[in-house]
Amino acid sequence: MASPAARFVDWFRSAAPYIHAFRGRTFVVAFGGEVVADGKFVALTHDLNLLASLGVRLVLVHGTRQQIEAQRAAGEAGRFVGGVRVTDEATLQQAKQAAGRLRVEIEALLSMGLPNSPMANADIRVAGGNFVTAQPRGVVDGIDMQYTGEVRKVHADAIGTRLDAGDLVLLSPLGYSPTGEIFNLTMEDVAAEAAIALRADKLLFLTDQPGISDAANALLRELTVSEAQARLQSDTGLHEDTRLYLPAAIKACRAGVSRVHLLSRHLDGALLLELFTHDGVGTMVARDPLERSRQARIDDVGGVLQLIEPLEADGTLVKRSRELLEREIERFNLLEHDGLIVGCAALYPFASEHAAELACLAVHPGYRNAGAGDRLLRSVEARARSTGVKHLFVLTTRAAHWFIERGFAPAAVDALPQQKQQLYNYQRRSQVLIKPL
Ligand SMILES: CC(C)(COP(=O)(O)OP(=O)(O)OC[C@H]1O[C@@H](n2cnc3c(N)ncnc32)[C@H](O)[C@@H]1OP(=O)(O)O)[C@@H](O)C(=O)NCCC(=O)NCCS
Repeated sequence: MASPAARFVDWFRSAAPYIHAFRGRTFVVAFGGEVVADGKFVALTHDLNLLASLGVRLVLVHGTRQQIEAQRAAGEAGRFVGGVRVTDEATLQQAKQAAGRLRVEIEALLSMGLPNSPMANADIRVAGGNFVTAQPRGVVDGIDMQYTGEVRKVHADAIGTRLDAGDLVLLSPLGYSPTGEIFNLTMEDVAAEAAIALRADKLLFLTDQPGISDAANALLRELTVSEAQARLQSDTGLHEDTRLYLPAAIKACRAGVSRVHLLSRHLDGALLLELFTHDGVGTMVARDPLERSRQARIDDVGGVLQLIEPLEADGTLVKRSRELLEREIERFNLLEHDGLIVGCAALYPFASEHAAELACLAVHPGYRNAGAGDRLLRSVEARARSTGVKHLFVLTTRAAHWFIERGFAPAAVDALPQQKQQLYNYQRRSQVLIKPL
């Protein structure tokens, strides 16, 4: 069992690729007014502060549902059409009050900076303004939605200027029309439209649920847009938050936002767990499948080293220096998951013998036993075949059975190409396995 110090170092290092990947990126974080009412926003400010300090450009979008309901007289129910509130004159007043109060409270919490707290040295300026133009929703299903509006335009350039200046931008679910009217908007509409207009890298919804679940209530970690659409249409066991937010997630993804995450607002640190760990804690919706197989390039050297170093250290793989890897990087095929390298395999041809060596096959421990090794092997085999290779061989100390189950057979050292025989390391005593292609 690793010591707490070693675990901390491991954990911190494992966050490095995300820290690099997130710097300068734009994230839109959307949450209902309940987050503030329940006192959860304090913990959230710590995580937002951390993201801001890592160079993430942050746009927050808050909702007001809970605060509008709280202003209603007992027994007076709000009217909703398809989950969207009908806003009459009185409700608009409540919406304005709710937005004003929430904005002030959020600004106050983001201004904290007590020494010895996670907010020490935080210097977050919150920007707001008339960034959202709205239009009336009109008559829906025969009902006049009155002051309920929808987003007509998000002024991305103006928001971008504030973000460039290092500010955090806070958007309320209210919009203004060119006629000077105020419209009550839904938080999810503002969040999705802001993410689209800003070409945000991520849109994150904090919801009452851990994410999107299947019909058996098991959490779905990743969904493509078409899978998300199918889940919405299946209509079995859909939570109210899913009905509200999933359409916005799908819309944003289709319009170019690369990733939309839905995660629990009840879990302390959910934002950090979702963003900085391999598995995450919620559901991620992406336009395309997240896994990609491709040939490696010179700028992949760091990622490949990170993957293979632990396996070199325990003797599973032969040690390769960075210089050697830089020279040979084009021999590597990679498996990428959501932009991170999670698997690699190299192909070394011996042209005169029509043979090639498969080497350095490795899959990140968090991605094993899900067919990634298999897919990498198939991509390397296809590459080998395309260059006329007739025999693929591998030298392995630990994974002989894995290869045997995939068509390789044990062979003697003298079955290897001449040049490879001379280099065979008798101390390492690797098993030789060969597969005809
Ligand atoms: C070997 C390795 C690449 C397999 O990757 P993977 O993505 O988990 O492989 P797959 O999901 O395609 O296959 C998983 C199956 O192989 C089995 N398996 C995994 N490692 C094995 C090993 N060393 N020996 C035998 N079987 C193994 C698993 O139990 C699982 O079996 P199941 O399908 O019956 O449940 C991965 O375990 C790894 O990176 N190992 C360390 C590096 C290494 O040994 N490389 C080979 C030397 S070149």
